[in-house]
Amino acid sequence: MANLHISWLLLAQCLLLVTRITAKVPAVVVFGDSSVDAGNNNQIPTIARSNFQPYGRDFSGGKPTGRFSNGRVPTDFISQALGLRPFIPAYLDPSYNISDFAIGVTFASAGTGYDTATSDVLSVIPLWKQLEYYKEYQNKLRLYLGGNKANETINGALHIMSLGTNDFLENYYSYPGRSSQYSIQQYQYLLIGIAGNFIKQLYHLGARKISLGGLPPMGCLPLERTTNIMGGNDCIEDYNNVALEFNGKLNGLTTNLNKELPGLKLVFSNPYYIFLQMIRRPSLYGFEVTSVACCATGMFEMGYACNRNNMFTCTDASKYIFWDSFHPTEKANHIISDYVVKNVLAQFL
Ligand SMILES: *[C@@H]1O[C@H](CO)[C@@H](O)[C@H](O)[C@H]1NC(C)=O
Ligand SMILES: *[C@@H]1O[C@H](CO)[C@@H](O)[C@H](O)[C@H]1NC(C)=O
Repeated sequence: MANLHISWLLLAQCLLLVTRITAKVPAVVVFGDSSVDAGNNNQIPTIARSNFQPYGRDFSGGKPTGRFSNGRVPTDFISQALGLRPFIPAYLDPSYNISDFAIGVTFASAGTGYDTATSDVLSVIPLWKQLEYYKEYQNKLRLYLGGNKANETINGALHIMSLGTNDFLENYYSYPGRSSQYSIQQYQYLLIGIAGNFIKQLYHLGARKISLGGLPPMGCLPLERTTNIMGGNDCIEDYNNVALEFNGKLNGLTTNLNKELPGLKLVFSNPYYIFLQMIRRPSLYGFEVTSVACCATGMFEMGYACNRNNMFTCTDASKYIFWDSFHPTEKANHIISDYVVKNVLAQFL
């Protein structure tokens, strides 16, 4: 009887192992902005940083890695949900190498956007440069795994793109440059063109599974609410409407590229509605505060302004949707990730 029990256990373990080996998604590769940066900006000269306390206070070891949250970001949760590591390391982080990156890597850079003019605002890594890093990564992967295995990994890997908010909030609506050249509609089409080209380049580099991330209700970020004095500090509807419009265009791009590129499985991961639902019905998720952030006054601080010396910082971030005035808490990130995995990314499993 005892032997039988042991055999069953062994069998179960073998099955687990087999599932792991044949896992359909051998790696997660990430491009984007602060929503998915894990510390690349620590390695470049920019003020768009978060590698100091209280950032990361709920991360493993309380470590401020450069993630713009109190804990993990959505792609960390997605990696875990796909049966990979519970976090995705930053490509420029010297404490990791290709043996780590072979199952997950992020090239993301806080403050960046589709538009190179956006990445110029805070001197961060533009999207085209993230693609250059990706090519370098592929070469390293071929040396490390061998050509065949590396190509298989690239082919099976889930490529995630998460950016766009900064193009509107940090660039278009903050500087006269783009807004004097383009109407908001024209600017959206400019960004869609860049997104489409980027996806085509990924495809030609061997990527077949790609998740294109939509915009959140960006008018509800605490920083934007703070400026909405006439509107009683409610969400800025115009910005939310632009997010909805842009998401519609990203969705259309997804349909078109799937028709155009054989073998491509491009999906549109839309965080808008789950995000808005959390803000409108916080108690459903155990949140208590929606309009201001946990860090400092919660009205405008992020990056260096959100520091450990601020006595206003909340003690329990899990009651808040926002960690700083621009970025969700780990708990909100977890809810959004679970939603996207269940409703969109599950088809890759
Ligand atoms: C990566 O780093 C680990 C531990 O730091 C080391 O053991 C390993 O040899 C390194 N691998 C490569 C391919 O450089
Ligand atoms: C891997 O893919 C690259 C790019 O498509 C190709 O040049 C190379 O021949 C492939 N290597 C193997 C071993 O299949």
